[in-house]
Amino acid sequence: MTWEIRRAERRDAREIMVIERERFPEPWSLGMLLDEMGNAATRRYTVAIEAGRLLGYLGVMYVIDELHVNTLGVRADAEGRGVATALLDEAFGVARERGIERATLEVAVSNERAQRLYYRHGFRPVGVRKNYYEKTHEDALVLWNDDLAERAAGGPTLAE
Ligand SMILES: CC(C)(COP(=O)(O)OP(=O)(O)OC[C@H]1O[C@@H](n2cnc3c(N)ncnc32)[C@H](O)[C@@H]1OP(=O)(O)O)[C@@H](O)C(=O)NCCC(=O)NCCS
Repeated sequence: MTWEIRRAERRDAREIMVIERERFPEPWSLGMLLDEMGNAATRRYTVAIEAGRLLGYLGVMYVIDELHVNTLGVRADAEGRGVATALLDEAFGVARERGIERATLEVAVSNERAQRLYYRHGFRPVGVRKNYYEKTHEDALVLWNDDLAERAAGGPTLAE
């Protein structure tokens, strides 16, 4: 692994937006992203950087004793190298240190690649939010992980 993970800074926002626009049919605006990143009490944004180039980013939100995965994106030419895996592992490790054991997220029903990633991190589907995405009208799966400890500690990575 040649990249490093560090906290996102405001100066990263424009490069994050390039990936966001490349990867999501309904990208956030720069303003939304900066608002999120600025909310340090409840949000934590991290980036994976390789030789000064931003490969991917993750934004999580703390809701009392739960972690919500708000956004995760990896540039297309850096996929399949474990960048998203490393970003999630780092964030879940930090959450565990804060006493957080549960996490949730929504993922498009057609996004099987992301679902595999989350299933490897111990998430399981618990429901469907119909028509969740405004532009595509696609449904979202609601995933939960009730025990972040196992994966954060390097436990089993696959349990279909
Ligand atoms: C989903 C997404 C974040 C995955 O990012 P990624 O960095 O390619 O993910 P990883 O490399 O950690 O894992 C992806 C695959 O690479 C494999 N892989 C290859 N090398 C690896 C390594 N060194 N370490 C871990 N996994 C590795 C994984 O096993 C996995 O295989 P699988 O797809 O067969 O399950 C990325 O495809 C993306 O940004 N998609 C568009 C946006 C999106 O869907 N975001 C999530 C919205 S909920």
